[in-house]
Amino acid sequence: MSSVIGVIGGSGLYALDDSNAVESESIITPYAEDPVTLYKSKIASHEIVFLARHGSNHGIPPHRINYRANLHAMATRGVDAIIAVNVVGGISEQMSPGSIVIPDQIIDYTWGREHTFFDILDKPENHIDFTWPYDMALAKLLAANALAMALPVKLGEVKGVYGCTQGPRLESAAEIKRMKNDGCDIVGMTAMPEAALARELDIAYASIALVVNWAAGLRQEAISFADISAVLDKGMVDIKKVLLKTIAEL
Ligand code: HPA
Repeated sequence: MSSVIGVIGGSGLYALDDSNAVESESIITPYAEDPVTLYKSKIASHEIVFLARHGSNHGIPPHRINYRANLHAMATRGVDAIIAVNVVGGISEQMSPGSIVIPDQIIDYTWGREHTFFDILDKPENHIDFTWPYDMALAKLLAANALAMALPVKLGEVKGVYGCTQGPRLESAAEIKRMKNDGCDIVGMTAMPEAALARELDIAYASIALVVNWAAGLRQEAISFADISAVLDKGMVDIKKVLLKTIAEL
């Protein structure tokens, strides 16, 4: 069945298709003065709507991303399902840099972000069910494809708790210790409120996350941006392959 698939790229992924066949569109939403830029292309019979979460030249930090405008723009273009790409730090022992995780749970440590479309409580269903924050069917397909490509998918299945921090600073060692006690496997800054807003709009949403560093305090060495960048460059090539294969199978 053909559908409209949204892809939200994070650090290191600013386009899905570098060819000239991509058409850009600027969409004005009620949530921002600036338009949201979407890039449209085709894969198999699907229309692809790509959005660079941090802007095309990585100018928007995680706490300044207008998640509502982004999701609203995607919904107005008829997006049925979203695959989000996230870059994260590893907390649990298996989560070494270079690992790929398809998370199944989220703990939200962010604050002050515009996090809902339901600012007036006019319907009981405005309290969305978020027991399972990710669409498990989509997540399972991502995991199966990444495993089939012999990529280092950690936990080997759809499993992993994504702890979402406010940023833009990285965490303290004590914060990571607390997050580990809470059950977080990975830490990033962009899963929320994105996942919840997608659910509010009834759009299936799953994430594929690349671990690029050990989270703060877990190793002797300080977090190195040169190391992160090397892992990111290599890992995003693989993630892109998983995306293309998964979309073709939808
Ligand atoms: N913490 C939060 N966000 C991140 C990290 C981290 O260690 N690495 C990549 N994104």
